[in-house]
This record gives sequence, C-alpha cells and structure tokens, in this order.
Amino acid sequence: MTDGPPPPRVYGRRRGRPLRQGRRRLTESLLPQLAITLPQAGALDPKLLFPTPPPAVWLEIGFGAGEHLAAQAEQHRTIGFIGCEVFENGVARLVGDIARRGLENIRIFADDVRPLLDCLKPASIGRVFILFPDPWPKQRHHKRRLVARATLDRLAIVMQPGAELRLATDDRDYLAWMLEHLTGHPAFAWAARGPADWRERAPDWPATRYEEKARAAGRIPVFLRFIRRET
Ligand SMILES: C[S@@+](CC[C@H](N)C(=O)[O-])C[C@H]1O[C@@H](n2cnc3c(N)ncnc32)[C@H](O)[C@@H]1O
Repeated sequence: MTDGPPPPRVYGRRRGRPLRQGRRRLTESLLPQLAITLPQAGALDPKLLFPTPPPAVWLEIGFGAGEHLAAQAEQHRTIGFIGCEVFENGVARLVGDIARRGLENIRIFADDVRPLLDCLKPASIGRVFILFPDPWPKQRHHKRRLVARATLDRLAIVMQPGAELRLATDDRDYLAWMLEHLTGHPAFAWAARGPADWRERAPDWPATRYEEKARAAGRIPVFLRFIRRET
C-alpha cells in the first residue's frame, strides 16, 4: 500500500565529527524535551508547543549552529521559536546554547523542514528566517535548492498575512534565483526600498557563522526581506 509520493530527499550532511561526550549527554537529555513530534493527523498549532502559548511563533529553517536563533530567542523572550536543522552537530550546538543561556522559548525539529511545513496550521507563523541556504551551484543540482516554488507555496500557507520572510545569501546565482522565485510568487512582496535594504542586515538581525565565513573569504552577503501579502 502507498500513501502518496515518497518524501523529498534531503541533500547535504546529516552528521559531522562524533559529538564530544558532554555535548552528546546534554543533547540526549535535553533534546527530547525540546523536540517537535509531528501529529499523526490534523494540523500542528505551533503555539501549543509552549507551556504558555506565545503571542507569535517564528521559524528558522537550516539554523546551522543556531547562533542566530539563540540570539533572536534571547532578544525576544515572549516569542516562541521553532528551529529546524538536519545536521546533528548543529542541533547539538544549539541545545548547548539553550542550556547555557536558559532559553525556554525554542523548540527544535531536527529533520527536513518540508514535512513540518506540511503539518503546520495555516497562518500560524509570524516570521521565517532562511539564512545562507546551501547554494547548490551546479546547474544539475539546482533542483536541490530549498528556496523553490514548492517551499514558497508551503510557506505562503503557514505564514500569517503580513509576516516577514528573511533570507540571506552570498551566492550571486542563488540571489538571482531567489529574487526570480520570490518576486514571481503571488503571495510575497519584496520589502526593499533601496540598496541599503539588501546590503546591510537590519539591527535586529545578528550575523550567522556562515556569514562570517563568507565575509572572511571576501564574498559579499545580500539580505532580503519579503512580506506575506494580505490576500
Ligand atoms: C549553508 S548552511 C547555513 C547555516 C546557517 N543558516 C548559517 O547561516 O550559518 C545551510 C543549512 O541548512 C540545513 N538544511 C538544508 N536543507 C534543509 C532542510 N530541508 N531542512 C532543514 N535544514 C536544512 C543544512 O543542514 C545546513 O546546516
């Protein structure tokens, strides 16, 4: 018996070096308390992941080592955050940060974001971050890119009208691709008013590890903010 098409594949690394013992123990004890389990049926209301439903829930997709997510969660203690990442070592780092900083407003989906997006209640997410997604530069790998029509269609459903989608990339070709896909999507409007809007991060947008590496290598990052249209 089949239940529709197989889930899409995730490309890229799931594991790096073996976790150090302390980090592994902390992850084993804390991650189960923070991890999101998808419902067997029905939609997932993300506010109900928190003991007191927060006024809004924000989502970071592919948080890497989680430094941006932890900083956002520290800055916005009343907001609920969902972080999604497939790379085990990145998840473990974030778990360590959560414990160290005493952050109670983060929940983790340590897997491919797409099944999560399929489950989330419509119009339940107030902000989305996709920062430096893997560019997959080879033409034949473009279909692996996370920013694609199918992802944007899912985001259009789960984002509240007026919600912000923040993206960053240091790859010129992926930038052109992002702009083409986003400006061509009826649910999203580009919030930029002038070059400063894409050349500089907003003050409440901390740098990620990947951005620092990109700058150190002489690549110039670009920052994009799109708004989920009201209709
Ligand atoms: C280039 S890294 C950038 C990490 C981080 N955002 C930063 O700026 O430092 C892209 C991340 O996206 C994650 N990723 C890729 N596809 C994903 C998916 N389908 N669901 C969740 N995370 C994904 C990868 O594991 C990787 O850590």
